[in-house]
Amino acid sequence: MMRQSSLVVVANRLPLDDNVAPDGACEWRRSPGGLASALHAILEGTTATWVGWGGGIGAAPPLPDIGTLRLRPVALSEDELRGYYEGFANTTLWPLYHDAVEQPVFDRGWWETYRTVNRRFAEAAAEVAEPGAAVWVQDYHLQLVPQMIRELRPDVLIGFFMHVPFPPPELFMQLPRRLELLGGMLGADLVGFQREQAAHNVAQLAGKMLGARGADDAIIYDGRVVRTGAFPVSIDVTEMEALSARPYVLNQARQLKHDLGQHKKVLLSVDRLDYTKGIEHRLTAYSELLRDGRIKVRDTVMVQVAVPSRERVESYRGLKDRIEREVGRINGEYGRVGEPAIHYLNQPFDRADLAALYRTADVMVVTPLRDGMNLVAKEYVAARADDTGALVLSEFAGAAAELQDAFQVNPHDLDGLKKTLLDALDATPADLRRRMQAMRAHITENDIHAWARAYLSALDHTGQLARRLPRQRAVLADRA
Ligand code: ADP
Ligand code: G6P
Repeated sequence: MMRQSSLVVVANRLPLDDNVAPDGACEWRRSPGGLASALHAILEGTTATWVGWGGGIGAAPPLPDIGTLRLRPVALSEDELRGYYEGFANTTLWPLYHDAVEQPVFDRGWWETYRTVNRRFAEAAAEVAEPGAAVWVQDYHLQLVPQMIRELRPDVLIGFFMHVPFPPPELFMQLPRRLELLGGMLGADLVGFQREQAAHNVAQLAGKMLGARGADDAIIYDGRVVRTGAFPVSIDVTEMEALSARPYVLNQARQLKHDLGQHKKVLLSVDRLDYTKGIEHRLTAYSELLRDGRIKVRDTVMVQVAVPSRERVESYRGLKDRIEREVGRINGEYGRVGEPAIHYLNQPFDRADLAALYRTADVMVVTPLRDGMNLVAKEYVAARADDTGALVLSEFAGAAAELQDAFQVNPHDLDGLKKTLLDALDATPADLRRRMQAMRAHITENDIHAWARAYLSALDHTGQLARRLPRQRAVLADRA
């Protein structure tokens, strides 16, 4: 008999590696990406079931629990991986939802596979949800799942959260299967977004395309009220603060500072290698500052961490090649022996080493062309408990609505970007302290636990669901 849970989370990815250790033990992988970071923090220690893809191809082996959290793997064949994940999710929806900064591709075969795979996720969720459970579906990969679950299990509460931006109606209207995608999402009882604007866009579309009535906080569709709203996602602030104060991290940070140049100002960027992150624009700005003599490699250095992502998707491969060429060019032109202008790291990092990088950076440069939220920006703020460091933040990241004391910038405006980088490099310690304190106060108040509580208590008015979550993770013990 399949075990059932009162809270079921459905997300494309499970949070663990393909490799379960031979003794059956299973570790959190913390795969790069905001969704895994956010859900990891709130589900660890609960008895929820997480339904998702384990990362491999073909039959999914049964997976052991992670502590009390249960995992229900969903298998994908090679063709499904191409059509559903690489195709419709990441070559059609992802670029379209990010302002079409890369041309979206519409392919009829991908759509069929997307629908088949969405149905498989819905069936898996229906199987592990106990009567009256809450099923919380995540992100653009699974936009048809809410309506499918409603058909299979009318007794459950259904939530949907979109981690990426939801585009303006004129962009969404380009989708050949727009009706199904909109209706699928509105199968939920509560549809959450990162920003208010997204809820507004959906209300407009629902009125125009489905003849639904509604406003920015509720849509009447199919004889039901679908509530909508903004719930900006966040990070586990306590965890990042504790992590960044560990002796290991402090030692690593000292070592990094030494290796990079004791007296140098360090600019840092940490992204998945994705065209939405504005990496090329940033490299151009940095290279022009070097060319203009406004910064010099003897006193400034840049570290660009670009973790590999969606490597079989063509647009990602092209981007990687272009970035690597440009880094090579900049180092060739401006670097000196033993003194590169940019350190480029195309590799995953564990959390402690990321925290050490955050501690080392004088200026954190987060300049996506469009981003649902951007948790890296919030992680940097949480890691700077000593109120030093500057955050340069794109106006087009969801985080910009909250982190108003960052050095905000339009990344398309190269001169503006160059000037903002210089402003951040030259800011006084008092100015930085004031900004950092204000930003940290905001994220401390609005951390990941507050996010989950706000969403789940909106989904379930009785407050029962929210009470089952841990209020806060235990502070990590110091491990040197
Ligand atoms: P996205 O979800 O688009 O990748 P976010 O900034 O919201 O962007 O989330 C990225 C998450 O991935 C953060 O929690 C960050 O710590 C993590 N991450 C980014 N780069 C790396 C890396 N090189 N190694 C491990 N984790 C990373
Ligand atoms: C974004 C998406 C997530 C996704 C993550 C990493 O944050 O919103 O749903 O998991 O990127 O991408 P990947 O394709 O590796 O899962």
